[in-house]
Amino acid sequence: MDAVTGVALPDEAELRRRVGRLSLEQKIRLLTGADFWALYAEPVVGLRRLVLSDGPAGVRGESWDERDSSANVPSATALAATWDSGRVEAIGRLLAREARRKGVDVLLAPTVNLHRTPYAGRCFECFSEDPLLTARLGAAYVRGLQHSGVGATVKHFVGNDSETQRMTVDVRIDERTLRELYLAPFEAIVREEGAWAVMAAYNGVNGSPMTQSPLLRDILHGEWGYDGLVMSDWTAAHATEAAAQAALDLAMPGPASLYGPWGDALLEAVGKGAVDEVLIDDKVVRILRLAARVGALADTPSPPGPPLADPASTPPQPPLEAPDSVAVAQELRAAAAAGFVLARNDGILPLPRSEPADRPGPGRRLRVAVIGPNAEVARTMGGGSATVFPPYTISPLDGLRAAGLHVTYAPGVTSHLRAGEARAPWLLRPDRPFAPGTGAEIRFLSEAGELAGSELRDGATFMWLSGFAASRVTEPVATLEVRCVIRATAGGEYQLGVSGLGRYRLLVDGAEVFDATLTLPEGADVAEALMRPPQQLAPVQLAAGQSVAVVAEHDVHSSPFAGFGTLIQLDLVPPHGTDDEEIAAAAALAAASDAAVVVIGTTAQVESEGFDRTTLALPGRQDELVRQVIAANPRTVVVVNSGAPVLLPWAQDAAAVLLSWFGGQEYGDALADVLLGDVEPGGRLPMTWPASEEGLPSTQPVDGVLTYHEGLFIGYRSYDRDGREPLFPFGHGTGYTTWAHESITLDQAPAGASGVAVCVQVRNTGSRRGRDVVQVYASRPDSAVERPPKWLAGFAPVDADPGETVTVGILIPERAFQHWTEQGWSTEPGSFVLAAGPSSASLPLTARVELPE
Ligand code: BGC
Repeated sequence: MDAVTGVALPDEAELRRRVGRLSLEQKIRLLTGADFWALYAEPVVGLRRLVLSDGPAGVRGESWDERDSSANVPSATALAATWDSGRVEAIGRLLAREARRKGVDVLLAPTVNLHRTPYAGRCFECFSEDPLLTARLGAAYVRGLQHSGVGATVKHFVGNDSETQRMTVDVRIDERTLRELYLAPFEAIVREEGAWAVMAAYNGVNGSPMTQSPLLRDILHGEWGYDGLVMSDWTAAHATEAAAQAALDLAMPGPASLYGPWGDALLEAVGKGAVDEVLIDDKVVRILRLAARVGALADTPSPPGPPLADPASTPPQPPLEAPDSVAVAQELRAAAAAGFVLARNDGILPLPRSEPADRPGPGRRLRVAVIGPNAEVARTMGGGSATVFPPYTISPLDGLRAAGLHVTYAPGVTSHLRAGEARAPWLLRPDRPFAPGTGAEIRFLSEAGELAGSELRDGATFMWLSGFAASRVTEPVATLEVRCVIRATAGGEYQLGVSGLGRYRLLVDGAEVFDATLTLPEGADVAEALMRPPQQLAPVQLAAGQSVAVVAEHDVHSSPFAGFGTLIQLDLVPPHGTDDEEIAAAAALAAASDAAVVVIGTTAQVESEGFDRTTLALPGRQDELVRQVIAANPRTVVVVNSGAPVLLPWAQDAAAVLLSWFGGQEYGDALADVLLGDVEPGGRLPMTWPASEEGLPSTQPVDGVLTYHEGLFIGYRSYDRDGREPLFPFGHGTGYTTWAHESITLDQAPAGASGVAVCVQVRNTGSRRGRDVVQVYASRPDSAVERPPKWLAGFAPVDADPGETVTVGILIPERAFQHWTEQGWSTEPGSFVLAAGPSSASLPLTARVELPE
């Protein structure tokens, strides 16, 4: 039986009996993927093909294709900002339904690395700088998935907290820091939720690459009793024998003839006695156990939840809700709003729907100037393997327009550092050059120049991982042709071009505009190559209303990543004013309106897997835009649309600052709900929001080594120690009501739990229902051990009506009082202080806990 979900499983003896039916060759074949996303089927043991998929902002499935859409949930930072395990667990259940709909057994999520530094490219994909908050929300995410019968893959084990040189870097972390910070979320999730899969990271820790690290066997298996599967990150496994001897079970992707160190080489290593066959059997047992858990092993009980979308093997079931269904939209809209952090509000929010607000009667609709690059294009997720293709996205502009305000718009400046992909209203599909909707026709040409296939697509970015099977092209492809129509809305100079790697030709109405070879800087990460490839642009003069036929050709073999990934993106920059002109136009619009909402932020090409940020400043001249709009109209609300902190040097001058993350497909509707006060901004910061770049840990390895010099002191732990003020502290966020934190009392931990229970009484002192997140921090005055001044020890969200008093019980786990020593976990006897309140910077209630010798 699965210890946590209670699903009946074949016992170890039965799994071993099945392994006994396999030859060594058959066993070794199972240990590398069959292709990019799936494991081999093995009928001899009743194993069907088992499918893995990214993760974590949705379930992409096996293709990288906008036609195969997926519900796009808010980024991990947005989910973490809810501080609400129940909500995150529900998102896990939603993702499990998505996985079943898309034929996926195991999601490659959650990412539980820590925000060691905000420069890290994948911060948006990780929950928090705090191990306890990460552990609680990561566990909830896993619970939601696994209790619905879909596997979670907790990643990236361990020390993959930044991207620079991630494939080779050796991260040096002292043992105490490793245990108390970076391993802590993995430990909690493995122990509490029995995670079914863990992904070994690319990087090394303290001298060993993680796919061959002793931490797998010694800690994961030995200390935590883990019985799930360890898979490599994609292409992370390199050493045949060392990875086999370590507890790596599955090398991804496959097949072994193309990727990974196993296959025939492992067969040979076992043959000559360098790797014991017992180890191979153990790995196959773990693959079969995972298969049994997700329902991929015949003659074992079905997992909970709806069955996989495989009409051949399942009886008819009610259809799973589509990613654009009303139910999914409602859940994602509420989840996004629940994570919005109202960092500052001088009373301007919520906005009234009509003006003047204080007079009864209908008044006239509020005139809102919506400004900023991210208002028009919704940034709903970060870049890299977390990319999914939502069925639609609601931009802030869409959301505010739908809310019935009188909305006008000015872009101001751009948040793109590069040319953006071609989009509506300019890009049109050649088969419907007059209909709304973007797209292109793609033709696949063989070596002989013959048509090997073609398809109509709806986007402008096209990527194929490991061949063209996803486009149902089986013949070898030599050339890609992307054909589209570009229609000018206004006369002027358009920049047209492509992003990609290798050789590209661009033709406009049959005439060649360029023939260029795009190359990356040496040593660039493959994810950077695919997410932020080089671009080639050319100016093209078009008259208003003019349409031109554009063809982009790509020589597939010319890419340095040919075979692994093929990419072509159509780029377009329409005619626009200079930044000065656009900023002046935006300020004038703000001046003529009742209020301004400026939506600034980053893009998936600024925050992405594959590279770290080198600055926390907003891209382009967005700071200047905000300053000028505030100067033109003091009733300015600034909405920050980023996955992780950016510098906000004008924050104290804005009437309100709302931190809204990458909010998923319902982002714009959720934003309208919160700005107009229909919904409470429920979020609290899951990280410290810095005021400047001073004192932040670096992501840059020195001679291939990245030493975590700061040790235990990341995030608020370092600000507290140094007495530095961030812009907004960890745990901070306000709502539309006010609270009094009235009392704290200590209690026995409930039966079966170890630790201490605290009861905190809070009262809603405002005039509307709202949410508070009660946070409890531990500290140890006069400690004999070096410690952070305080650390998060427990938390609970509380909802209350005006005047209502609520008492919330919060379990402070035993581990909150422990520190790691050379002898293991230890509790310093004596008295700890527990302080409770609405944020790490406001802790009005305290209690003492005496711990015996
Ligand atoms: C990422 C993983 C991801 C995998 C498969 C890797 O580059 O680090 O997080 O799951 O690719 O896409």
